[in-house]
Amino acid sequence: AARSAASLRSPIVCIMGHVDTGKTKLLDKIRQTNVQEGEAGGITQQIGATFFAKETLKDKVAVLAQEAGLEVRLPGMLVIDTPGHESFTNLRSRGSSLCDIAILVIDLMHGLEPQTIESLNLLRSKRTPFVVALNKIDRCYGWKATADGSSRLSLQGQDGATREEFETRAARVRMELNERGLNAELYWKNEDPASTVSLVPTSAITGEGIPDLLLWITRLTQERLTEQIMFMPDLLECTVLEVKAVEGLGMTIDTIIVNGALRENDRIVVCTLDGPVVTSIRAVLTPPPSRELRIKSEYIHHKEIYGAMGVKICAQGIERAIAGTPIMVIGKDDNEDDIKEEVMKD
Ligand code: GTP
Ligand code: NA
Ligand code: MG
Repeated sequence: AARSAASLRSPIVCIMGHVDTGKTKLLDKIRQTNVQEGEAGGITQQIGATFFAKETLKDKVAVLAQEAGLEVRLPGMLVIDTPGHESFTNLRSRGSSLCDIAILVIDLMHGLEPQTIESLNLLRSKRTPFVVALNKIDRCYGWKATADGSSRLSLQGQDGATREEFETRAARVRMELNERGLNAELYWKNEDPASTVSLVPTSAITGEGIPDLLLWITRLTQERLTEQIMFMPDLLECTVLEVKAVEGLGMTIDTIIVNGALRENDRIVVCTLDGPVVTSIRAVLTPPPSRELRIKSEYIHHKEIYGAMGVKICAQGIERAIAGTPIMVIGKDDNEDDIKEEVMKD
């Protein structure tokens, strides 16, 4: 169905943090996949993208939504996974540039680590709103899990000593954030999300806290970022993630469409190592909803696709496209040379 202006697009949510804090595992839990176990050394080395449909969001927050009286108005959510390993600063920077809001994952057992701090600095320099997922709560001694439940409610049901361990560790993270000039508070105690970072306890193993996290992000985006996530049908904003040869498809480029639309047969300009290349889109593909773009799947063909979305584009002449550069569409009334010049600007 055609989408009109004056409607919200899906927000882009970037997951960032130190290596092995559980970023990919959290996504696996939401998707019910095992992407992390298939990674070399369990280390993420690329930017990932997963689209969650509105129905999935509703479903995942159901344990909390009634009590919070939430109506999901977002058409969906595009979640970007980034590597935490120190050598991928450029990918964290790209991810944080693309997103509307971020989830900074901190290992409750470790507190702030070097790439936590690097991520914090990136987010602050770009003024990106974010929440903290305090992950691995299930590692508190004696933890009694309620699978896929609210972490706020789970905490209330823990024995005294277990809750105390959680409180002590959470207080330490809060203090470490304070030392970096950030106010932080457990999300249910946070009365001023504009100036205080919310901490959402989670476990990627038990699924606890995922309803809380998705609910909080949904509310923040649809209530506070409405301007930012307005859908603009005529304003294509699209960035190349990587070039990939795919069996049966030939050369493809994985992209993130932030806003606007892309169509089959659109004439586009792509930045390559040899300069701007004009080509036309042979196919617009996405993985099914709740599946990772960087994992080969039964791709869905689209005549037309709207941002925000992770999209695989098939076209000729794209093998030397440059990651991080924009793609532009040549419209009926556009001058091809003008667009070529514009695309190579950044
Ligand atoms: P990079 O992408 O390489 O930066 O790592 P990551 O942040 O994506 O972490 P990943 O999902 O690879 O998880 C790292 C390890 O922590 C894996 O062995 C996970 O099984 C484990 N892990 C992740 N989340 C949790 C959690 O909530 N509880 C426990 N107990 N283990 C977890
Ligand atoms: Na990892
Ligand atoms: Mg990962």
